[in-house]
Amino acid sequence: MSTASPEMQAYYAARVPYYDAVYLKPERRRDIEFLAGHLPSRFAAREVIEVACGTGYWTQHLAPRVARMVATDGTAEPLAFARLRPGSAGVTYRQADAYALPPDLGLFDGAFAGLWFSHVPLAARTPFLVGLHRHLRPRARVILIDNNDIQLRDFPITETDADGNTYQHRTLRDGSVHRVLKNFPGERALRDLVAPFADAVDYRGLENFWLLEYELR
Ligand SMILES: C[S@@+](CC[C@H](N)C(=O)[O-])C[C@H]1O[C@@H](n2cnc3c(N)ncnc32)[C@H](O)[C@@H]1O
Repeated sequence: MSTASPEMQAYYAARVPYYDAVYLKPERRRDIEFLAGHLPSRFAAREVIEVACGTGYWTQHLAPRVARMVATDGTAEPLAFARLRPGSAGVTYRQADAYALPPDLGLFDGAFAGLWFSHVPLAARTPFLVGLHRHLRPRARVILIDNNDIQLRDFPITETDADGNTYQHRTLRDGSVHRVLKNFPGERALRDLVAPFADAVDYRGLENFWLLEYELR
């Protein structure tokens, strides 16, 4: 199954030069500081695959603490930006579709995706996770983080499709308007989703983000 969205990838490619502005919003500072300390500690000394790493904002925090870091994204432009970040020398960057991760990436005991899961269509959630799990050893630790619905203040939902996916219209600095699938799963939906294959499920609601951590059974 390929659910890759060329429309969304074009949007993120164009946004690369100023993507990191999302991490500079004053109202997010407390959450970002917490996550920048918490996430590396949860992956310390593990072999970690990151999905949809974008410009490598979280990669730069994880890389110094892990045993091996493979950071993937479906789009070339954010990867090019990520490769230039200080501290990236030990990271293997690969262009890879999150829904069809290449078999030669190997096996990992950690997996991370930041601000990605909200872009996964409802019908693709389980297939995405099943595909990711194929690259993980038993007892691997998985962490997903994403925006909670406070983000709707900046980008209200403009459309809902027949499957229940929600969309926002986002305007880039060049004035172009992009339709972006963005879902807002709640704690119950996330717990139900991972229940068939996860132990030690932990959900945390922060001011601006949610965090879901589990251990693959
Ligand atoms: C919201 S950004 C998240 C970037 C980064 N993880 C972060 O937290 O800052 C979403 C990323 O998903 C990537 N992307 C979109 N479709 C993808 C796909 N099918 N496979 C892998 N990455 C994809 C985009 O290129 C973009 O970098």
